Formats: sequence, C-alpha cells, structure tokens
Amino acid sequence: MTETQPVVVPPARAAVFLVVTIDEGGEDTVRGLLEDVQSLRRSTGYRDPDAQLSCVVGIGSAAWDRLFSGPRPAELHPFVQLDGERHKAPGTPGDLLFHVRGRRMDIVFELARQFAQRLKGAATVVDEVHGFKFFDDRDLLGFVDGSANPEGERAADSVYVGDEDPDFQGGSYVIVQKYLHDMDAWHALSTEAQERAIGRSKLANIEFPDDVKAPDSHVVLNTIEGKDGRELKIVRENMPFGTIGDDEYGTYFIGYARTPDVTERMLRNMFLGRQPGQHDRILDYSTAVTGCLFYVPTVAFLDALPAAPEKKAERDIALNAS
Ligand code: HEM
Repeated sequence: MTETQPVVVPPARAAVFLVVTIDEGGEDTVRGLLEDVQSLRRSTGYRDPDAQLSCVVGIGSAAWDRLFSGPRPAELHPFVQLDGERHKAPGTPGDLLFHVRGRRMDIVFELARQFAQRLKGAATVVDEVHGFKFFDDRDLLGFVDGSANPEGERAADSVYVGDEDPDFQGGSYVIVQKYLHDMDAWHALSTEAQERAIGRSKLANIEFPDDVKAPDSHVVLNTIEGKDGRELKIVRENMPFGTIGDDEYGTYFIGYARTPDVTERMLRNMFLGRQPGQHDRILDYSTAVTGCLFYVPTVAFLDALPAAPEKKAERDIALNAS
C-alpha cells in the first residue's frame, strides 16, 4: 500500500498555509527540502505527540517541470480563473503549498518557520495565512464549517488518486483560495437570510430539507453528482483568519480531491451559477483574492524524487558534443 501524505486527519486547532514561488536557480534547494519535509515534521512533532503535528506539501503545475523529469500527474494544470457576471475567482502565483496543521500554534509555527528557513535565497513566500479554529468549528460568518466532509473510506476514496493514473496512485489534488468577508454587510442580514445563503440552520447546524433550500445557496451549488448519480465529495479544512486592526476577516478555503475536476465544478457553480444570472450567495459577502492548484505527491515519491530535468546549459553542451 502506498504511503499517502496526511491529507485526511482529525480537524486541527491551528494551521499555517504557506504558498511560495521558486526563485530562478532555487530548484536544487527546493528538491532538498521536499526530501526532508517528513523528517523535519517528525523531529518537530516529537516534542509533543499530543499536538498531532502534520504537514502536506503540494507542487504547482509550472514548478513540476522545473523540478522533475519523467511523467507528470495527469490532471496537474494551473488554477482555472473564473470570471462570473458578478464575482471573480482569480488565479495567483504559487509553486509550492505547505499546509501545516496541529493542535498547538507554537509547534505549527515552528515547522513552517523551519521550511521557510531552508528555502531562504531559493524561494519567496508569496502568501502566508495563520488560521485558527473558532468556537464550535464555526467560520467567521458564524456557521459550522466542515460537517458535511466525507469520513473514513469515503474520504479516502474522494481524495486519493486511484488506478486511473497508475504512476501517481495515492497522490491528491488541492485547491486553495483566500476569501475576505464583508462582515458589516453580512451582519446586516437577519439570521434567516444568512441561513438561506448557506442552506443550513445557524445554531443547530442542520441542513435544510431539499424543498426548502434556495437553489443559489452555498450547500445546493456545492452538491454535485457523478455520471452514476453518486454525490461527488471533496475534503475541506477551511480555517478562519483575521487582522483586527486592518478590519480584515476571512476564510482560507482548502479542498482536497482525487481529481481537480470535482472542485472546479463546484467553483463554476459558485461563480458562474448553474443557470445564467445565478451565483453562490456567499460570494456577495466573500471576495476571493487568491487561487492556486497543486498536486500532492505520495511519501514514497518525496523519499525518492525522480531525477531533476536537464538544465538548459547542460543540454546545450550535450547537443553541441553530439
Ligand atoms: C459546505 C462555508 C467556500 C465547498 C459549507 C458549509 C459552510 C461553508 C458553513 C456548511 C457546513 C459544512 O458542510 O461544512 C464556506 C465558506 C467559504 C466556502 C465560509 C469561503 C468563503 C467553499 C468553496 C467550495 C466549498 C470555494 C468548493 C470549491 C463546500 C462543499 C460543502 C460546503 C462541498 C458541503 C456541501 C454538502 O454536501 O452539504 N461551506 N465554504 N466551499 N462547502 Fe463551503
């Protein structure tokens, strides 16, 4: 059985999301860190096993060809930007994602810091979010977020690549987006109007019956089915974040899936609607400011990376010699 990265873990209390771009010539240093990610996690996590420190590293489409020779994951491509009538999902730079999670922010912070230290001079942090769990696992809009996530075998089946791409079996795809909320506008709504936008009750966190849910509610637009009529799931581990002095309050969306197609269908529903003129009501109060897609390799892949691609100068020398 292939050892996967820890994509499906019990909900964490704290997370650091680091998105970095690789500087020119930084590829060898990045390869060195990728090989050491799990041992750094073990050394840091050993200090307090109860902290359940975990880390997932993802690799972006453009970075893949700079880092490795050989085959590519079949569905690795840049984030697909969306330009809806009212709302946009921008794509933003990102070669690597580090999703560090645990029960204590100090230990999560320390591991993320070690990664950044190793990448000094080789990569640039272009987005950094420190996320925390809010009361009852609620987002800053006040709703419990994550309860419809699949569990157990269903979760594993939803997030890990199977024999459809044998070279990359056990990998996963992850899409991240940073959303900023218009809290004043959201708080100006009645609780009933907020519940209509989400499709669940706020206090008890119960999904509304199908005949009551609004067609442009968040839950309805994110409920999608495959050709066989089975619901298609992703695993989300969104985190609230904020800076009080800047009046900035947001949700860091992170969704893992076996194929990015599932998450992309959800995003099209949210931003373009299922029919003209429709969009997810949550977007009237939430603006997407980043968007990236990454492939999450297996631990076996990280332990024995494929050879680096030939550098251009070496290729030119080889060509001239032949
Ligand atoms: C459900 C919040 C963005 C996919 C939910 C729920 C909340 C929520 C409160 C209901 C409880 C639950 O089942 O987890 C948010 C917030 C977002 C956000 C605050 C950002 C502003 C997204 C995005 C996607 C997404 C970008 C997909 C691309 C889903 C899915 C469900 C869900 C699949 C479960 C639907 C179901 O099966 O009932 N979200 N979400 N969410 N969300 Fe989001």
